[in-house]
Amino acid sequence: MKLLLLGKNGQLGWELQRALAPLGQLVALDRQGLDGLCGDLAQLDGLACTVRTLRPDVIVNAAAYTAVDRAESEPAQATLLNATAPAVLAREAKAMGAWLVHYSTDYVFDGSGEHPRREDEPTAPLNVYGRSKLEGERLIMHSGCRCLIFRTSWVYASRGSNFAKTMLRLASQRDRLTVVSDQVGAPTGADLIADVTAHALRTVQARPELAGLYHLVAAGQTNWFDYARHVIERARAHGQPIRVLPQAIEPVPTDAYPTPARRPLNSRLDTTRLREAFGLHLPPWQQGVDRMLAEILP
Ligand SMILES: NC(=O)c1ccc[n+]([C@@H]2O[C@H](COP(=O)([O-])OP(=O)(O)OC[C@H]3O[C@@H](n4cnc5c(N)ncnc54)[C@H](OP(=O)(O)O)[C@@H]3O)[C@@H](O)[C@H]2O)c1
Repeated sequence: MKLLLLGKNGQLGWELQRALAPLGQLVALDRQGLDGLCGDLAQLDGLACTVRTLRPDVIVNAAAYTAVDRAESEPAQATLLNATAPAVLAREAKAMGAWLVHYSTDYVFDGSGEHPRREDEPTAPLNVYGRSKLEGERLIMHSGCRCLIFRTSWVYASRGSNFAKTMLRLASQRDRLTVVSDQVGAPTGADLIADVTAHALRTVQARPELAGLYHLVAAGQTNWFDYARHVIERARAHGQPIRVLPQAIEPVPTDAYPTPARRPLNSRLDTTRLREAFGLHLPPWQQGVDRMLAEILP
């Protein structure tokens, strides 16, 4: 099997380089490309040319415009990278019978209610990023290519920057911290997403009828405040120089922390479809976060 991976150096792309390697011949590109191959999502002709040249059996797109707040002032760029480019990949995949694996987000929902959202529930993104990702999903689905689209949330990895690392830095510098407590979701490791992707890709080779849209997040739920406390207390127990005291970490509502992009309060995703289709167990979010901490804490 020949696989083309785009966005190889992002949080997820890095883990996919590891997880996809045993599946076959893997060509992994970043925005800069390699040996005349284009990996830049903004270069639509170059992208199509790369797919036609390589003729992969599977295209895995881990590249995306992920700057949620900046997207509010760059909607055209967000749409180009998150919708138009995936549509080009889907068109090329369809033309050569390849699979396309793509990633989307809980931000396609409006965040109302308190129940975990299923794949077939109505979408209503609150921000430009969410709208661009939803448009990407729709264009891929409408292309008729064989695809796996995984909606995930609150992604972290040992490599790159993430919420947990930011909290650890602030906790070592400040006496007080305020953290949003009314947005609920599941922190999900890029390593878990990559491993599930590899497993699903193997499965659909024998069972192509499993193509489609799936929610893929770790089990359980938390909010940013409890997530921050978890990370900080683990680091303290690990002997890290944490300055902020537990009682000096304060929960605040989303309204107290205005950002250019509105965020959904309910980011819970129901993973029943994924678990049942692929026979998978998704571990509790704390398991992956603790593992990441064990890797990054000195
Ligand atoms: N992070 C989250 O919390 C989260 C939540 C839900 C869903 N997702 C989705 O999960 C997927 C993976 O996200 P991630 O967390 O791994 O994001 P990430 O760490 O920000 O990685 C995104 C990658 O895309 C690359 N990229 C940006 N513009 C590009 C372009 N024009 N051409 C080629 N590559 C380009 C970036 O490269 P540069 O470093 O060169 O810019 C980066 O390597 C995305 O589809 C994202 O929408 C993420």
